[in-house]
Amino acid sequence: MKKTNKKILEEIIRVDHAGERGAIKIYEGQLLALKTLKQDEELKRKIEEMKEHETEHYEYFDEEIKKRNIKPTKFLPVWDLLGVTLGFGTAMLGKKAAMLCTASVEEVIDGHYQDQTYKLGEDEESLKQKIKKFRQDELDHKDFAYEEGATKKGLYNILDKVIKTSSRIAIAISEKY
Ligand SMILES: [Fe+2]
Ligand SMILES: [Fe+2]
Repeated sequence: MKKTNKKILEEIIRVDHAGERGAIKIYEGQLLALKTLKQDEELKRKIEEMKEHETEHYEYFDEEIKKRNIKPTKFLPVWDLLGVTLGFGTAMLGKKAAMLCTASVEEVIDGHYQDQTYKLGEDEESLKQKIKKFRQDELDHKDFAYEEGATKKGLYNILDKVIKTSSRIAIAISEKY
């Protein structure tokens, strides 16, 4: 039976715990922007729905991190702030930027979750199944974002790169610290 490396296992749970929390914060920021300025009830409803999925994902990892006595990343407060800022900022730029934000993040998470499923051994089957399920939810979020106008044309291409690079940096930091 292939056993999961303990250090890698801790990194996986630590970073996913941080990432799912970040996702909630991004949507909170977007909802804040929609509430204060733009009125788009349909979009608001959909973002709230995605936020509920992220909350379910986060609660799972929060439970695991406590159960297994793993230290959460010290950067949680930083990610909270940056997440809300990113969500708020993109929603202020407009619906296309808000949707691109979701698409860009989910494209990073897609690969990230897939890599993790390869790293987990047979002793962590239930965790692996959860990650697979969550990855599918993220892919659904990404598809929705493209349906709703996410685009990488022109300046949006730069925004996509900035969001992806920031997400990758946050991932690398949250795994280790
Ligand atoms: Fe999620
Ligand atoms: Fe998501």
